[in-house]
Parts: sequence; C-alpha cells; structure tokens
Amino acid sequence: MAADSKDLFGIYVHWPYCLAKCPYCDFNSHVARAQIDEARFKAAYTREIAHMADLSGRKKVTSIFFGGGTPSLMSAALVGDILHQISQHWGITDGAEITLEANPTSVEAKSFAGYRAAGVNRLSVGIQAMNDADLKALGRMHSVDEALVAFKLAQRTFARVSFDLIYARPHQTVTQWRDELARAIDYADDHMSLYQLTIEPKTAFYDLYARGKLTIPDDDLAIALYDVTQELTEAAGLNNYEISNHAGNGAQSLHNLTYWRYRDYAGIGPGAHSRLTVGNKKTALHHHLDPNKWLTEVATNGHGIAAQEILGNAEQGQEFLLMGLRLEEGIDLNRYAAIAKKSLDDEAVSFLAEKGFIELFDSHRLRATPKGKRVLNSIIERLAQ
Ligand SMILES: C[S@@+](CC[C@H](N)C(=O)[O-])C[C@H]1O[C@@H](n2cnc3c(N)ncnc32)[C@H](O)[C@@H]1O
Ligand code: SF4
Repeated sequence: MAADSKDLFGIYVHWPYCLAKCPYCDFNSHVARAQIDEARFKAAYTREIAHMADLSGRKKVTSIFFGGGTPSLMSAALVGDILHQISQHWGITDGAEITLEANPTSVEAKSFAGYRAAGVNRLSVGIQAMNDADLKALGRMHSVDEALVAFKLAQRTFARVSFDLIYARPHQTVTQWRDELARAIDYADDHMSLYQLTIEPKTAFYDLYARGKLTIPDDDLAIALYDVTQELTEAAGLNNYEISNHAGNGAQSLHNLTYWRYRDYAGIGPGAHSRLTVGNKKTALHHHLDPNKWLTEVATNGHGIAAQEILGNAEQGQEFLLMGLRLEEGIDLNRYAAIAKKSLDDEAVSFLAEKGFIELFDSHRLRATPKGKRVLNSIIERLAQ
C-alpha cells in the first residue's frame, strides 16, 4: 500500500436505522417506527449518487464503506443496487475495499452470504464487549456467544474482517480488560478497532453521568487501559496505525486511511458528509440528518445536501493536521505547506518536539509520539496557529 497515494477516493454510504438505540451512541441512528420503505431508499440513493458524481467528476473509487446506524439491516439486494450505481457513475477499481458495518446478531448474520455476493469484501463486526453483563449495560441486542458465532461466519464469508470493541467502560478494571482483550485477540484476524468509551452529549449515558449514576474510568485508569491495549495488540503483531485502530501488515482499512490522509471522499445518505474537490476547490458537504427529511429533499432536489462550503487554506491545513496526526505514519510537511499555503511554525514544532509530543522523521515527515497522541487537540491548536 502506497504511503501517501494520490489516487485514493472513497464513497461513504450511510444507513440510518438500528433495532434499538444504544445508550452511549450519538451517531445518526434511529429506531424505525414503521416498516422501512427500501424501494424509496433505493430511489433516493440512486439519485444522490448521480448528483455527487456530477459534483466530483468521474474518478475511480478505491473504497466504499457502508456505515450506520446498522447497515447489516439493509437487504443484500439494496447493497448490490447501490454498488451497481456507484460503478455506473464513477467506476470502481479492481480490488477496491468494500466494507460493511455489521451488528453480530443471528438475524443479521443470515445476510452475510448475500452481501458477499453483492460485492462486499470486508466486514467490520461490532462485538463491543466479551461479557454478557457489559453487553446488556451497553444496550446491545446480542450475547457474546451469538456475536462470536456471527464473527466466525464473517471470517468464513469475507476476505477481511475487523473485530470491534469498546473499552474504558463503567467499572472496567485493568485486569478485566487485559483478560477480555487477550480473548478477543485470540478470535480476531488482522484488524481490530478498539474505541475508548466517550460520554457524548444527548445520549442516555450522558444523562446518567451528569446525575452521578454512571462511573467511568478516571484519566489515570483510562491511560492504564490504553497502555494495556498497546501492549497486547503490539505483542500480537497488530500495529497501532491509527489511535483506535490496529492491524497486521497490509490489513489497514484503506477507506479510513482515505479520511486520515485527507484525500477526497463523497458521502451518500442521511447525515453523510463529504470532502470533495469541486471545480478545483476543496469543499465540505453535509447532508440532512433526519431520514425522512433527507428522503423528501432527494425526491424534490435530486440530493439531500443541507450545507456546502468551500474550505479556505487555513481550515484545510487544520483538518489535514487533525486527520494526519492520528496516524502512525504522520504527515508530509511538504503536503501541509501545499494545502495550508504556509509552513508550520518552527518555534511551535521545536517546542513540542523538545517536550516529546511530536517527532520529525524521514526529513520531511512529522508525527505525534504516544505521549502526544493523548493530548492531540492541544498539539494541533499549537501547530495550526
Ligand atoms: C456507530 S457504530 C455503527 C456500527 C454498528 N451499528 C455497531 O454498533 O457496531 C460504529 C462504531 O462506533 C462505536 N461507538 C459509537 N458510539 C461510541 C462511543 N460513545 N464511544 C466509543 N465508541 C462508540 C461503536 O461501538 C461502533 O464500533
Ligand atoms: S452503536 Fe451501532 S447499533 Fe448502537 S445505536 Fe449506535 S449505530 Fe446503532
């Protein structure tokens, strides 16, 4: 995989529905009150793909990501239709990475073979915890046994699978996490997404937390849990290529690398967003969040875009840092200068390097050190002045 390929171009497709709302989740996910009209969604995705392809111009797609919500509730026929439209309007490179996020219930596992036949070649499986009490507390609709059966089926069905967990959960200790992660690593292949639980505003966990009814690990414990995560994944040959993502050689998610390397991607569906070069200008686009509003807008206007904004050089520079410094490979300083139309401030770089937060390497690259990754936002603020 090229370190900084110019040819990356991703498509993100958002499916906005879930069987239930997990109490920690602030993604654009809704529990459908009535039967979902897939034919209406198919028509809307088809029109919006045509619109986004007009905006971007024809260029070959190197990755596609079905995210949610719970895309494993989509029919395989709808997934196949969307892939067909993408291939008609843009074209898809041979060997493109096509990922779908799946919840590991037995119902959803029944669709795996259909997704593979439709063209999906990578499944990201949201196991989330390795004990039933915690799965229940997280509001999940599956047990550990059910999740592992689904995961093994995914391994047999798809060329690539990711094992996804949430840690730093209420009452979790270092010993418990060490044991849980070790068991997960035994099952996983060569990609794991390991997210620290964040308490997001407007979620049920946020309300409980604000009322003192939910205890999450304090900063010291969170760091200890993070350190165990690094220790066990590294020992298993899974490199921490991005803050929350660990992979063996060549198993990194190309789609997510497209975001983090600040390459173009087009979003389709309710609440999707894009970074697209439109007529030579890097443009940010956001789609209507509410699924019904989005459906109506697409039917009326041919797209569900709620806001479209050309990004200035300073904004682009900041976004480039924000994305790139999450990566182990860091950023190319020459590319930063080309995007931001200025170089990084020498004094800020020297200061942060002396303090051990960042390091320069390969003569023109810069990355955050493990110590720096823990305070990334402050580093970016300092660098982007
Ligand atoms: C939004 S989910 C979509 C995929 C699927 N519905 C699932 O639950 O696995 C994508 C990932 O985000 C993670 N996630 C969502 N909210 C989170 C939070 N507050 N803290 C940490 N991870 C979170 C989930 O655990 C999941 O692995
Ligand atoms: S974590 Fe996944 S299943 Fe749960 S509400 Fe969010 S998107 Fe839906």
